[in-house]
Amino acid sequence: MSLTSGSATALITTEKLSKTFSRQGVQQHVLRNLDLVIGEGDFTVIMGASGAGKSTLLYALSGMDSPTLGDVRFGGRSIIGLTQSQLARFRRRACGFVFQQIHLLAALSLFDNAMAAGLLVSGDRAAVARRAEALFEQVGIDRATQAKFPAQTSGGEAQRAAVVRALMNTPQVLFADEPTGALDQASGAAVLDALTDAHRVGQAVVLVTHDLKSARRGNRVLYLADGQISGELDLGDYPGPAAAPAEAARAEALRGFLADMGW
Ligand SMILES: Nc1ncnc2c1ncn2[C@@H]1O[C@H](COP(=O)(O)OP(=O)(O)OP(=O)(O)O)[C@@H](O)[C@H]1O
Ligand SMILES: [Mg+2]
Repeated sequence: MSLTSGSATALITTEKLSKTFSRQGVQQHVLRNLDLVIGEGDFTVIMGASGAGKSTLLYALSGMDSPTLGDVRFGGRSIIGLTQSQLARFRRRACGFVFQQIHLLAALSLFDNAMAAGLLVSGDRAAVARRAEALFEQVGIDRATQAKFPAQTSGGEAQRAAVVRALMNTPQVLFADEPTGALDQASGAAVLDALTDAHRVGQAVVLVTHDLKSARRGNRVLYLADGQISGELDLGDYPGPAAAPAEAARAEALRGFLADMGW
């Protein structure tokens, strides 16, 4: 099955992407010949049952793990076969990550975690600090909490700091795996607003979620089953919380789509 993207220019393209895990002689084919196009500036949501391979797909799209077979192209250029240092450079410049296991640096405060990410790319310390302050404010982390080390924070605070860190360098694409999983309603909404803002300024977002409210932020929803994209729903851009009738229609479309997918 070949899929086109919602926007004109392809940012990420996979071709016959396959990932097989082998354990004690048993092979598990998690991704099978998966073809996918993610457009520049698309907010793509990936849904599917637990264990369907959503995280595996994110790792492959972002070069965090290499596929067993097939190709992943970013901006027309294959990332398969890049050296470790080329891959690291590509990820630092082009990608932001919020993954299920949060990887903040334990020896740095939340604020310094964000600074460290920004200073990898920019030497303008004052500008990096301003960006960090604005993002922390957006996700609702106050200054006292910014000064804490990850071990001194709650799961939700650390998760929001991970979102800040991922957005620091205005990545071309943000990969987020259940970024609202540990969050209460208000904090979750703040994180989703940060993703929506990134999308509005033209960044691509690839969001894996089990949560319908989160999924409705995307302009397209892909369903992963049996190692392939088994369905796609075009939702159009998120109209904002004030557009109640449009939101109700999108919620209904999403529920219908997921019911068809057997979710
Ligand atoms: N490193 C690994 N070695 C062996 N099997 C793995 C490995 N990583 C993932 N798997 C297996 O691949 C399948 C897909 O895992 P994945 O983490 O991609 O699922 P998921 O769709 O993200 O699930 P969830 O919604 O629970 O996060 C699972 O059955 C998992 O056990
Ligand atoms: Mg997962």
